[in-house]
Amino acid sequence: MREHLLVALAALPLTGAAADPVPERQQELIHLLRQDCGSCHGLTLKGGLGPPLLPASLDERAADGIAQVILEGVKGTPMPPWKIELAPAEALWLARQLKQGLPR
Ligand code: HEC
Repeated sequence: MREHLLVALAALPLTGAAADPVPERQQELIHLLRQDCGSCHGLTLKGGLGPPLLPASLDERAADGIAQVILEGVKGTPMPPWKIELAPAEALWLARQLKQGLPR
């Protein structure tokens, strides 16, 4: 059942009119960003093992390109793919939060 849901979500186009995650899920995603992504990209996302994920560092990159990196990871580097945990719309939402800057 859950697998079917994931497959359905994975089939959604990455850009397009996918709705934002519900507020409760948004909180979980921000938590994931600070904890899991923060373990490599730094707690304040200023960089660590991974490069900084601050608005200034991501300025040149389109949100859907960032979402793609989040979903697929970067082969041959420690950056893991997150598509098992994140739906495309969630990755895109996270990419937009990163470009905009997290609230302190
Ligand atoms: C195990 C360590 C690790 C974790 C956990 C991790 N990353 Fe990464 N990430 C990396 C590394 C290393 C790179 C640089 C890859 C390269 O050399 O291109 C990277 C690259 C990226 C990039 C591309 C940045 C750029 O300027 O090209 C984005 C965006 C990104 N990560 C987002 C995330 C997000 C969002 C999460 C959490 C969902 C996350 N990462 C979790 C290690 C990690």
